[in-house]
Amino acid sequence: MEGETELPKGAHPSFARVIQQKQRVKANLSKIKHKIGVYSAKGGVGKTTIAINLAYALSRKGFRVGLLDADIDCPNVTMFLGIEDRMDPHAPLKPPTKDGVKVASTAMLTDELKKPIIWRGPMVTKMLSDFFEYTDWGELDYLIVDSSPGTSDTPLTIMQLLDTDGFIIVTTPQKIAGVNSMRSGIMAKRLGSNILGVVENMSDGKPSRSTNEAAETLGVSVLGCVKADARFNSSSDSGIVPVLEYPDIEKEFTLIIERFL
Ligand SMILES: Nc1ncnc2c1ncn2[C@@H]1O[C@H](COP(=O)(O)OP(=O)(O)O)[C@@H](O)[C@H]1O
Ligand SMILES: [Mg+2]
Repeated sequence: MEGETELPKGAHPSFARVIQQKQRVKANLSKIKHKIGVYSAKGGVGKTTIAINLAYALSRKGFRVGLLDADIDCPNVTMFLGIEDRMDPHAPLKPPTKDGVKVASTAMLTDELKKPIIWRGPMVTKMLSDFFEYTDWGELDYLIVDSSPGTSDTPLTIMQLLDTDGFIIVTTPQKIAGVNSMRSGIMAKRLGSNILGVVENMSDGKPSRSTNEAAETLGVSVLGCVKADARFNSSSDSGIVPVLEYPDIEKEFTLIIERFL
């Protein structure tokens, strides 16, 4: 069913509903040239960090960029960026702009930041598909989608509903991260999505053996390494985007985007 947008004759109602929703998402996002997911099944490897800095590196290059925080359970993008704006929950959702990048997150729809979002899969899927269907991004060159970890509802919904150019898989030098990044890439491929490449985060500057193995297994290259650097931690606490603040970090991310542009 993945990739299909035509409604087969006599389709079962639930099948038809998914196809129709996919068509509505496609129509709503038709003014976006490229949609890129940032994903790993493993938590804490730096998906959000990489997604944010890639978005701003693209924006620095002069592209019109949007950033969707698709981590419905733990929407951290607004905190990383120091955004306090709220969005009117009525469609169409209007994402606020921070330093030239349009940003949308469920955190902008909730009043209490500390309140956990405890939802079962169908609610997560509904919220995410509403974001795809009703957010008014206007014309964009790139939409970067920050996924939650795991291999269930969030990444599954992104892969099934969004016509992405592909996914950037984030890993760290450790074997366990490499294995999980392989798992992540294989899932995306099985669902018909492309893999644009692997980024090694918290790196010493050279891809580890497990990172190289993961990239090789997925048939892609390592797009780049982002060094382990305490400035990422201090920046995320103060709402600073490292790419906008530190030229050496901007260079790391510029090298990565130049490999998939
Ligand atoms: N290259 C890095 N060097 C140091 N700390 C990092 C780096 N990348 C991310 N971090 C920190 O690691 C933590 C997890 O990063 P995050 O982007 O939230 O991961 P994920 O989205 O995969 O869960 C955050 O505190 C972040 O500031
Ligand atoms: Mg995250």
